[in-house]
Amino acid sequence: MAIWEELGYHRGVKAESICGPLMLAPLAGYTDRAFRKIARECGADASVTEMVSAEGLARGGEKTEALLERYPGEDRLVVQIFAPSDDPVRRCMDNLLRHEPEMIDINCGCPVPKVVRTGAGSALMRSPGMIGRIIAAIKERTDIPVSVKFRLGWDDSSINFLSFAEEAAAAGASMLTLHARTRAQGYSGKAERSAFTALARHFSGSGIPVFGSGDVFSPEDAAELMDGCGLDGVMFARGAIGNPFIFQETRQLLESGSFTLPSAEERIATAIRHLHLAVECFGESLACREMRKHLMAYIKGMPGSSRVKAGLCTASGEEEMVHLLSQLA
Ligand SMILES: Cc1cc2nc3c(=O)[nH]c(=O)nc-3n(C[C@H](O)[C@H](O)[C@H](O)COP(=O)(O)O)c2cc1C
Repeated sequence: MAIWEELGYHRGVKAESICGPLMLAPLAGYTDRAFRKIARECGADASVTEMVSAEGLARGGEKTEALLERYPGEDRLVVQIFAPSDDPVRRCMDNLLRHEPEMIDINCGCPVPKVVRTGAGSALMRSPGMIGRIIAAIKERTDIPVSVKFRLGWDDSSINFLSFAEEAAAAGASMLTLHARTRAQGYSGKAERSAFTALARHFSGSGIPVFGSGDVFSPEDAAELMDGCGLDGVMFARGAIGNPFIFQETRQLLESGSFTLPSAEERIATAIRHLHLAVECFGESLACREMRKHLMAYIKGMPGSSRVKAGLCTASGEEEMVHLLSQLA
């Protein structure tokens, strides 16, 4: 039986839509379809797109629509949108539904000033009534499950994740994901694990799966969030960049109590496969530019990697990058 069935994911939600406890988190600039394919091949149960502007989608912007494209055969895709209010969400629904997402996630955590200034991302945590209206706008049109990814609160003096989650649940959210930092923390400081426990307890028995995000850098971190804090699942973010193996390692740890690390050969073979997929999806020039940050992460800490890193910074083509990477296998 799949882990998610054991966990009872089917309670209250469409089992085929919310597909397991080990998810690739939304990462702007990273979770394109090439990375999502690699993550799924390495054991992720589902993945989330980069955040997509509801306004951009409503206008049918080419770049925005491109973020929603799937790799051939991709399933279990959660599309994440950001919006300051229900109005652009209502207007984007035609275009959004054409992509047939398995789930729609609402970004209530982005700390970037450009986004927050408009009232979207983590700014939604300051007007919790709005999350209910956004969810309602989606539910007017579809019964695709809706999830919400949010933070502890705006800052230390306005921690409101529990009441915010209640608003979302009351409006019909099928899944909740807490990034256990405040907006003021950005991505620094430690994620607050006691908040995971509090949220998991609060929604225990509700049929709404509760996921956690924040400082999941190892299989042990993920296991601690699920077994220790009682979460139903985790989203892997920075911990999966250059390390998609973390999904299968975590599954092994949960199922058997131990896991094996990939060899240098496996690490490099996966990096090269990721590069090939990116070239297939985006063309050689763009893919090689975008893949630098991924490849640097794949080889981080490997013996001899500093020389290869320097080469990757100036390499312009796929062949040159493959040649450099192969020196580490
Ligand atoms: C480069 C980068 C891009 C991100 N993009 C998004 C995004 O588009 N949507 C979102 O909800 N969270 C986004 N996040 C937040 C992550 O999904 C995750 O919640 C956060 O990094 C905490 O997890 P970690 O400490 O394990 O990395 C982003 C984080 C980083 C570092």
